[in-house]
Amino acid sequence: MTDTGPWWREAVTYEVYLRSFADADGDGLGDLAGARSRLPYLAGLGVDAVWLTPFYPSPDHDGGYDVSDHRAVDPRMGTLAELDGLIADAHRLGLRVVVDLVLNHVSSAHPWFTAARAAGPGAPERDRFHVRPGRGVAGELPPNGWRSIFGGPAWAPFGDGEWYLHLFDIEQPDLRHEHPEVAADAAATLRFWLDRGVDGVRFDAAGSLVKDPAYPELPAGWQAGDPSPYSDRDEVHEIYRRWARQLAAYPGDRLGVAETWGGPEVVGPYLRPDELGQAFAMDPLYWPLRPEPWRAGVDALLAATTRHGRLPAWVHGSHDVSRAAQRWGRDGARAMLLVMLALPGAVYLYAGDELGLPEVALADDEIRDPVFRRSGGQERGRDGARVPLPWTEGPAPYGFGPVGSTPWLPQPAGWGGFSVARQADDPASALALTRAALRLRERCWRGRPAEVAWRDAPPGCLAFRRGADGPTCLVNLGDVAIDPRPYGSVLLASAPVDGPTLPARSAAWLG
Ligand code: NOJ
Repeated sequence: MTDTGPWWREAVTYEVYLRSFADADGDGLGDLAGARSRLPYLAGLGVDAVWLTPFYPSPDHDGGYDVSDHRAVDPRMGTLAELDGLIADAHRLGLRVVVDLVLNHVSSAHPWFTAARAAGPGAPERDRFHVRPGRGVAGELPPNGWRSIFGGPAWAPFGDGEWYLHLFDIEQPDLRHEHPEVAADAAATLRFWLDRGVDGVRFDAAGSLVKDPAYPELPAGWQAGDPSPYSDRDEVHEIYRRWARQLAAYPGDRLGVAETWGGPEVVGPYLRPDELGQAFAMDPLYWPLRPEPWRAGVDALLAATTRHGRLPAWVHGSHDVSRAAQRWGRDGARAMLLVMLALPGAVYLYAGDELGLPEVALADDEIRDPVFRRSGGQERGRDGARVPLPWTEGPAPYGFGPVGSTPWLPQPAGWGGFSVARQADDPASALALTRAALRLRERCWRGRPAEVAWRDAPPGCLAFRRGADGPTCLVNLGDVAIDPRPYGSVLLASAPVDGPTLPARSAAWLG
């Protein structure tokens, strides 16, 4: 019955959004020493791995995803020795460590880009980037009409007639991976962190590494999320084949996980046997709380992954989307956690969602996310899901950093009410549920058959087993309570089962 495979096949990975997790030195920014000190908490929670968001030197125009040196640690985040210590401690506690590699772009402060800027039009230093002459009489117009994912044009002028491409912020020029030095440097970066003993790497903006060299205009009516000349092109997979060979050369089943945004047709190809072990399934983040999108969506993702011998990597939340409690509601977020923990595959859990943290409404002048600025304030951006974690009830900063320190994003009044300390011994808390669910996942779900067998369910509900027998996961997505008794006795439920009824928007595992 059990099919364990490599450690990551059904791992639960906790995303440590470093800047907001724990601040040991009191500068307001979370750091490696802070994260290291909280590893016992994560081991106690019962996750298998931690994903550390970027800790590299960065001017911080995009929360560290604008990297100026890919093979070093930002002094504000700590030192290489601190990272070594964190990895060693994690391993002692039975936790794996996944690091974030941002290879699609660099910071505008990276030496390659400062050299490109200085070198002038047509210089070979510019070949490492996507640089084109502007249109118009004197090159005053961008080379084409592509839009940045953060808003505004995707091209910025050098001021000398040439423009550079930045799919994200203006301070994040995109690299041209066809350039041999860019390819060699990326390989060296991968080798550097694998040599350091990390168990896996997340490839940021995985689908963006190759652009159509003709830089064609987007088709009329194109919308964000549609196929584009700069996403998930066939040529990108050649790069992952190379990196997969590098990963495979190391002992211990090192993981490569692609940050993909798209449906099964996007995710599947990254999982071919000579490519990566995981690619994010982000679509479920937006599936509405109705049974049909979930049934069809789960089936399609399973088909696209299992055909390559892989399983989906379900994303419950991340630093790029609003808090689970905001997207699905408090009870919906708990229910969806139980569902994802029951489905075949790996699960990515975002720091703070185990506490049920709400999205925080920040004032305009508190927002740091470039999305807010680049969209001209049309989009609030992602900072509402990045407010530093509360560890203790009080005083501020609620154990995130030393008393008297000021977190980089303000924590709202009452934040301590969500703290780890407040929830630790409360059996009805989000934290207690998460902990219990992770324990029971070991017993009930991990290693069970990868097939999802849907069962007949009352209207508005989903019910499934993995394989023909074993426990049922029953999810009530509707607004009325239902009777769960025909499905078995309850092992765990995301809301109190009141007599014979399972409340609306809740899930239960029944054995
Ligand atoms: C994906 C990261 O998760 C996000 O936070 C970042 O802004 C973009 N990639 C650009 O690196």
